[in-house]
Amino acid sequence: MSLIEIRDLHASVGDTEILKGISLTINRGEVHAIMGPNGSGKSTLSYVLAGRDGYEVTGGDILLDGVSILEMEADERARAGMFLAFQYPVELPGVGGMSFLRGAVNARRREEGEDEIDHLEFVKMVRGKAGELGIKDEMLKRAVNVGFSGGEKKRYEILQLALLEPAFAILDETDSGLDVDALRIVSEGVNALRSDAIGMLVITHYQRLLDHIVPDFVHILADGKILKSGDKNLALEVEKSGYSNFTDAA
Ligand SMILES: Nc1ncnc2c1ncn2[C@@H]1O[C@H](COP(=O)(O)OP(=O)(O)O)[C@@H](O)[C@H]1O
Ligand SMILES: [Mg+2]
Repeated sequence: MSLIEIRDLHASVGDTEILKGISLTINRGEVHAIMGPNGSGKSTLSYVLAGRDGYEVTGGDILLDGVSILEMEADERARAGMFLAFQYPVELPGVGGMSFLRGAVNARRREEGEDEIDHLEFVKMVRGKAGELGIKDEMLKRAVNVGFSGGEKKRYEILQLALLEPAFAILDETDSGLDVDALRIVSEGVNALRSDAIGMLVITHYQRLLDHIVPDFVHILADGKILKSGDKNLALEVEKSGYSNFTDAA
């Protein structure tokens, strides 16, 4: 059974229809990339999948492991194994980094019927994974995302991803705000998580991220619709001739 099946999805913000019929199937073990010009609906798709308030599904369906998730709140979807790394990670003043991560991991473990994680074991695990992502200890002591640079926020998102081990991960413009070195570190972090157990949707405006995280499938999104799907070579086509080739043809 497919991990995620998006069927003719229509979604609106207020009176404006933004997603105009999107169909997409993602299996475990697959990495799909969505590319598209600014304003094409990429972030909207990620929010609608994650169940963010303010986005109304007006048609179609989203199935996770064959079950519709439309009636599920965002936190239920997260516990069911969905993870969204935001394009603009939110700051949580007063929420300590370590306790935030521990709370998230324990919520997921409870859902799986597992015991809470041992405190010392958890600290060790976080330090290990944080180190691999170039996240300093001092950053983990601060409130979540408060005073983090753009690149630090993105690394912290990937740390959450690594700790939560979701079944389905959406990365929304994880490359934005990253310099070349940070891009490499973050991409290595993501690639280390690729396995038959996880499906990923990588959203990006630029092709360069896909040099590092090589997708199995690429979809071009414009004006709320998928115009074309293909393999990684489709991303190279976009890099060469831009989006106008696809949007003009449509
Ligand atoms: N909360 C909102 N209220 C009104 N319009 C929105 C809102 N969020 C997104 N939009 C509009 O939806 C379209 C798609 O936006 P978005 O999904 O952020 O695109 P992308 O991520 O591809 O750049 C844009 O025209 C944007 O102005
Ligand atoms: Mg966006």
